[in-house]
Amino acid sequence: THVVENVCVVGAGYVGGPTAAVLALHNPNVKVEVLDRDPRRIQQWKSPHLPVHEPGLDDLVRSVRDDPENGSKYSTQRQPNLNFSCDSARVLAKADIIFMAVNTPTKMFGVGAGCATNMAAFDGAMRDVAAHAKPGAIIVEKSTVPGGTADRVRKMLSAHRPGVPFEVLSNPEFLAEGSAVQNLTVPDRVLIGSAATPTGRQAARTLAGLYAAWVPKERILETNTWSSELAKLVANAMLAQRISSINSISAICERTGADVDQVAKAIGMDARIGPQFLKAGLGFGGSCFRKDIASLAYLAESLGLDDVASYWRQVNTMNERQRDRFARKVIDRFEGNLVGHKLAILGFAFKKNTGDTRESLAMEVIRSLLEERPAEIAIFDPYCRPEDIMRELEIACPDISERGTIKLHTDPHLACSQAHAVLVVTDCDQFRNTPGKKPRWTHNTSEPTASQTCSSDCTDCRSLSARPTTSEPIEWPRIAYNMVEPKWVFDGRGLLDVAELEKLGVRVDSVGRRATISN
Ligand code: UDX
Repeated sequence: THVVENVCVVGAGYVGGPTAAVLALHNPNVKVEVLDRDPRRIQQWKSPHLPVHEPGLDDLVRSVRDDPENGSKYSTQRQPNLNFSCDSARVLAKADIIFMAVNTPTKMFGVGAGCATNMAAFDGAMRDVAAHAKPGAIIVEKSTVPGGTADRVRKMLSAHRPGVPFEVLSNPEFLAEGSAVQNLTVPDRVLIGSAATPTGRQAARTLAGLYAAWVPKERILETNTWSSELAKLVANAMLAQRISSINSISAICERTGADVDQVAKAIGMDARIGPQFLKAGLGFGGSCFRKDIASLAYLAESLGLDDVASYWRQVNTMNERQRDRFARKVIDRFEGNLVGHKLAILGFAFKKNTGDTRESLAMEVIRSLLEERPAEIAIFDPYCRPEDIMRELEIACPDISERGTIKLHTDPHLACSQAHAVLVVTDCDQFRNTPGKKPRWTHNTSEPTASQTCSSDCTDCRSLSARPTTSEPIEWPRIAYNMVEPKWVFDGRGLLDVAELEKLGVRVDSVGRRATISN
């Protein structure tokens, strides 16, 4: 394999930053530079307050970016080998390996709007790479891309630089938000797709060499590029499919005597099924599942496989229905009349332990409820910045500020005070009414990340003054006492102990089980 001295990561985002830091940590003789065209973002990565908040990331970046003697937990006498830069010509020209980690969102216009992948950022960055990369450089797709992208990139490179040898590899990232460092440090597998040529395989081995510094050999899997690109989409599609499957069963449970958590536990004990990703709830949010299924379905459709496309689209459809069904249930419990009522929403992010509001399930629930013109919707989330929540709401409901019904709170008890109904929308542990008790059935092993907040003098990061600081469990007795009849609690995540909560004199409707008290 080639000796690797310089690695470049294009895109200083959620994937690029943490990946670069872990690569640098385990390959002290390799210089890793992260490129981004946004100077502000690069500045943040060079500052004490990183633009990405992940458990363990601050320490890790400090240990590879800064000079020694900073007392970080990784501290050794090593030379710093992680750098951040906007100077793409210089950095690309010396790189032996170039990771492409720019964002690839869903295309929202033109052909394939809503399902195809928007490759504008990726292709833009590729043009830079084509212009500056040195002959023999290995180009690695890290971003999730449509199948066949490696072939397309190869063609583009040979058009721009005829006769110059480049290798293109696919090496998708499987990290989840909130556990990025953990996922990178102990990956289930590292997938490397290459051209089935001697030089292609050699490039794959060179890349595998970087990972072999900390990943056991048997976890490094080499395939062809198509398999690798497709496997990334399929992994997310299958995970999402489990969630939609169990959610479809939750609808049956709500109409019968079955309890969806009991069903999930029973089937999850079958080793062939396994217990993870079987937690019924409001559905999946976040920036990957919906997008990757759309991309997979779009691929199938473009191959003329309409049945395959509609099979996978149904996973997204079921997800939307689950969310709508929840909103509908709230409206029905109030006999179709929310006018004059106050609703409190606990949780706005797409999952627990993150302030990420993109593709949040709360958004669509709130949108449906607003149609019914309630007196007030009060929102509390322990990790979201109020301005992020407001921005999402304004995008989804442009006339929202005129209606004046939305109030954002930094205290959950104030949010729920005088509410006719409280809706638990995110699976935050602090929302549980039995915080000491083990969760009924849980999927997420990542630790709470209250430490993700920066110090109070940080202007770049989520400012503490504007940011709720509570990771304390909420006090349900207090909430129940200060609610107003009919005192409905809608548990969209199945995390509340219903019997305990009912003792406080509230009515509880929990996903995947029949409500015991009828209205
Ligand atoms: C996901 C994949 O896990 C990761 O491998 C991939 O690289 C990117 O997409 P992420 O979107 O960060 O990561 O979140 P994840 O923890 O997987 O949860 C996704 C959504 O599914 C959340 O809204 C979560 O609340 C929901 N979920 C998850 C359930 O409703 N039930 C479950 O059992 C598991």
